[in-house]
Amino acid sequence: MRWSHVARAQRAMFTTSMAASSNSNVRFRISSAVEATSRPPIPQAYAWAAAYRPTPGRPLLDMSQGVPGTPPPKLFLDTLAEFSADPKNCGYVENVGEMALREAAVKEMKIAYAGRDGEGEVDVKAEDVAITAGCNLAFFASVMTVAEKGDEIILPVPWYFNHEMTLSSLGIDTVTLQTSPEKHFQPSPEECERLITSKTKAVVLVTPNNPTGAIYPPSLIESFAKLALTHNLALIIDETYRDFLNPAHHPPHNLFSSKPSSTFPEDWSWRSSIIHLFSFSKSYCIPGHRVGLICASPSLIPELNKALDNIQICAPRPPQLALAACLAELRPFVKDTARSLEARHALFKSVLPSNWKIGAQGGYYAFVKHPFKGVDARVVCERLAKEMGVVCLPAGFFGPSGGIKDGDQWVRFSVANVDDDKVRLVCERLKECEDAFGWKASA
Ligand SMILES: Cc1ncc(COP(=O)(O)O)c(C=O)c1O
Repeated sequence: MRWSHVARAQRAMFTTSMAASSNSNVRFRISSAVEATSRPPIPQAYAWAAAYRPTPGRPLLDMSQGVPGTPPPKLFLDTLAEFSADPKNCGYVENVGEMALREAAVKEMKIAYAGRDGEGEVDVKAEDVAITAGCNLAFFASVMTVAEKGDEIILPVPWYFNHEMTLSSLGIDTVTLQTSPEKHFQPSPEECERLITSKTKAVVLVTPNNPTGAIYPPSLIESFAKLALTHNLALIIDETYRDFLNPAHHPPHNLFSSKPSSTFPEDWSWRSSIIHLFSFSKSYCIPGHRVGLICASPSLIPELNKALDNIQICAPRPPQLALAACLAELRPFVKDTARSLEARHALFKSVLPSNWKIGAQGGYYAFVKHPFKGVDARVVCERLAKEMGVVCLPAGFFGPSGGIKDGDQWVRFSVANVDDDKVRLVCERLKECEDAFGWKASA
């Protein structure tokens, strides 16, 4: 389905009326692509939450936002303070970032993608890496570089809403690749292939996924890489939540090894098709410092550089320098965060009322089917926020209206920003609402 074709007019009508009412003093025309782009949906959930009256005994419980629940380690903060205080670090640096961070990030990638026994060559170099002011900007710059107005990019649905918003604001058509609960929200390379046209420029994967939490196995990621190779497309793979995979899922994939499997051509290199994106926001608990990266062929970097020069010049320098200085020492912190997230996922699964079903879980998120058949998840989430003080996000925030299979029953819970006690309380209130809402609940 070509989402932009079907829904652009509908969205434009909606956003135009919003723009007309909220920007009535603006006497110039807004870009039609930006105007037709959806607004970020999170404020909607917070508007619902604002209607809840918390009491000391019944606080608001927020499992909506994908933000780290703990501060960064003191080591990082102290190092950052030092670099921030140094006037030398107030100037610009190369668009592609501090060389020290590019090198340090490569060292982390060599560990993250090494074979199970820690062996095997991970073929990534500092010259493949560009540092960006966050991973959203990495996506924006990558997409600007590979596609233009009227081109098509394939996004599995449910999608990470900023990806779709980026494509829409650049006038690029989003082609939706459905995933389904029956297939645990794993996208199908065969179905993806059927969507490819002469206008397709890229396929986007997010693993572990936002919003579903689905973790794509290496074999699936490799099938998409082969598809990209066969059709001369870019495979943009956002691995923001990579560090939260448990050891059973290590390595996340083998694309960075010199040859992932015998089915790849002898002369294959990931650099011919892959654009890998990463965020430092989650692993190091520093979303406000805006550091992300793009790892791609060095022949693409000068092209990316043109986009980066216009939209960021360079990412903020002190956090780049601080990360470079302590990335290796922060490994235990990242591992501990991953372990506590895994434990919280297990707790959530064990205390979730039996009528609520987990479809997939991983990274920061659990994707859960609510028990009220025939009631739209938006309505369920609205009542949960307003009446129960539980904030979570309906699947409809992550896809075209009516475009997610069984989307009306799915809800995203983030386990990152809550402690174990809050997870228990949320689940108690989910059980309570089965009676309180007056809808028939069934498994
Ligand atoms: C898949 C994905 N990519 C990118 C981002 C944004 O990362 P950053 O803070 O580095 O821009 C998020 C944040 O939620 C995300 O879920």
